[in-house]
Amino acid sequence: ERATMIIDKDFRIGEVDPRLYGSFIEHLGRAVYGGIYEPEHPEADEQGFRTDVLELIRGLQVPIVRYPGGNFVSGYDWKDGIGPKDQRKKRLELAWRTVEPNQVGLNEFADWARKANTEVMWAVNLGTHGVEEARSIVEYSNHASGTYWSDLRIEHGYEKPHAIKTWCLGNEMDGPWQIGHKTAEEYGRLALESAKVMKWVDPSIELVACGSSSRAMKTFPDWEATVLDHTYEHVDYLSLHQYFSNRNGDTPTFLARSLEMDDFIHTVIATCDYVKAKKRSKKKMYLSFDEWNVWYHSNDADKKIAPWQVAPPQLEDVYNHEDALVVGCLLISLLKRADRVKMACLAQLVNVIAPIMTANGGPAWRQTIFYPYLHASLFGRGQALVPLIRSPKYDTKEITDVPYLEAVAVHNEERGEVTVFAVNRDLERTLPLQVDLRSFGGCRLIEHIVLEHDDLKAVNTQAEPDRVKPHTNGGAIVSDSAVEARLAKASWNVIRLK
Ligand code: AHR
Repeated sequence: ERATMIIDKDFRIGEVDPRLYGSFIEHLGRAVYGGIYEPEHPEADEQGFRTDVLELIRGLQVPIVRYPGGNFVSGYDWKDGIGPKDQRKKRLELAWRTVEPNQVGLNEFADWARKANTEVMWAVNLGTHGVEEARSIVEYSNHASGTYWSDLRIEHGYEKPHAIKTWCLGNEMDGPWQIGHKTAEEYGRLALESAKVMKWVDPSIELVACGSSSRAMKTFPDWEATVLDHTYEHVDYLSLHQYFSNRNGDTPTFLARSLEMDDFIHTVIATCDYVKAKKRSKKKMYLSFDEWNVWYHSNDADKKIAPWQVAPPQLEDVYNHEDALVVGCLLISLLKRADRVKMACLAQLVNVIAPIMTANGGPAWRQTIFYPYLHASLFGRGQALVPLIRSPKYDTKEITDVPYLEAVAVHNEERGEVTVFAVNRDLERTLPLQVDLRSFGGCRLIEHIVLEHDDLKAVNTQAEPDRVKPHTNGGAIVSDSAVEARLAKASWNVIRLK
């Protein structure tokens, strides 16, 4: 049985905001210390940033990086991370039970972001901090000069404001594990009051309110409705977070989990639109899916890590081939709602549940999930197109009617290119695919990239960094009006046309 897909220039979902390919660096494990920053490393620059890691990140064209957390931010005093480094305090870090040396903070991270060709998405602490700290950090970062906070930044060596545009109002405030966890009412009020003063300091900024920390939360989706009831006219985005796992070793179900992501996004949009209707508002709320990934491989190892160390190897998931397929499906889910999901952050970027791994003092390498993220970031910019798909389906105990084909296309008018991203979820068989090109008739094939592996559990390691990597021998054939491709079993495919 084959799958078919129809694409057309005029069947538009919406413009892909480049920030859909954002990522995340938290003061957690070896993300910062040993990841992006390691002054003793042979490839460190004059500020202590690893240039090998910077190069990999620049290659990914990451548009925005969320920072400094995560759970970390809810106990973080941003003032600990500014001023002379030798005077910075070491702190007990309660979210991840480590010691935070504060050698990287706001100014260093802004420098790093410039070097990485990316923007900063700053999360403010709404766990132990409140309105006053939320306004002062915007003033320190974004106000030109002539006030206590802006002049302090200048005194610290940063004449020009950082002009951070995107700010998260806290992190996962619905979660009981969060430092300073709040009810939806408490958070909604605090987020509103913080939003007001932050925008009074700098009206050009954009704000993200916390949605649920996963769709499994008991308070989902009432949390969203209540929080938006307070904040609707004052924030620009609502956040979503979701991680996926294959703890039971049920790969067909694992590969189908992106259907749950589709459903999650759909429900959050419906909730936003319900509040919009209730308020008779003209404003459309957009979504920021600012934490998403596969996360489970490191769970047991993390339980054995002794507390109160600096930068222990926490959350170091080693990703296999099937994880890359899931990440591919999740990217397709985001693209299918590019009309409403304007930002998203692959959580995270280096060492901590990340596409890039490093050894302290040693090399950096690409995990399996690096590749679908890279391809989507490089080739998934433009207009997302409605994927009209017919595909054979399968059922698992938990999820039924799962199409073997997961796919979407993106049309880049500037480059005159259209790219089909497709996953074959079938673990046993090749899936023949025909793409009806309609208004793209006459295109030629640039390349058909494939990520495939006989072993679903194959991983990339320091010793064998290229065990799983893509090739360009996909063999798609383009005729005047259609693409004929044979999608290898359990594969991620990028069919690029011009
Ligand atoms: O990304 C790891 C953690 O997952 C983040 O700190 C938190 O926000 C989420 O629970």
